[in-house]
Amino acid sequence: MQSESNVTTSMRDIMALAPVIPVLTIQRLEQAVPLAQALVRGGLRVLEVTLRTPCALEAIGAMRSAVGAAIVGAGTLTRGSDFRDCEAAGAQFGVTPGLTGELIAAARRAGFPLLPGIMTPTELIAARAAGFDACKLFPAQQAGGIAMLKALGGPFPDHAFCPTGGVTRANAQEYLALANVLCVGGSWVAPAAALEVGDWAAVESLARDAASLRRVAL
Ligand code: 3PG
Repeated sequence: MQSESNVTTSMRDIMALAPVIPVLTIQRLEQAVPLAQALVRGGLRVLEVTLRTPCALEAIGAMRSAVGAAIVGAGTLTRGSDFRDCEAAGAQFGVTPGLTGELIAAARRAGFPLLPGIMTPTELIAARAAGFDACKLFPAQQAGGIAMLKALGGPFPDHAFCPTGGVTRANAQEYLALANVLCVGGSWVAPAAALEVGDWAAVESLARDAASLRRVAL
């Protein structure tokens, strides 16, 4: 079992590694390794593989084995049992769209840190009470976007965020300019069309551009 402080500290450390966490939906296992290689070549080392496709867990394992520089996490964890599956697959962090008592208990048992999703002040207070000092704001744009994060920075100035959901190349820099945004998450760096045809040069180019975004950080 990990202590709460270990969990939260190491998630912040992971968030500090790159300004953008690509949110990946992998349809076919053979896409996993070249995708991770392209993202890492472009400068994005922290990767979130969503549990939305049948090959997601295998994809995490394949990326871990083949791409040593990548920090491979699992996203869309919604059940306690997902934590066990992801840990067995080799996930190095987890991301949830929300936070429940079941997920908090599973996170405390898990061998990796969690970035829990919140979208209201009440949910943020609950996450902080559970020991988390960094959260995903989800869905960020729909929850109020930049203005919401500025407002949350008033009562919770020390809390770090990774806004995800509706973050694009066009608005990412504005998010990253906020003092409480450590990184952003988004799918724009790994478009489904590029994955489908194996256009890894396009993914690398999008990653390089995303990696050049600047943050002010906490
Ligand atoms: C998601 O869970 O799908 C992420 O929030 C990614 O959202 P995006 O596709 O709007 O970047």
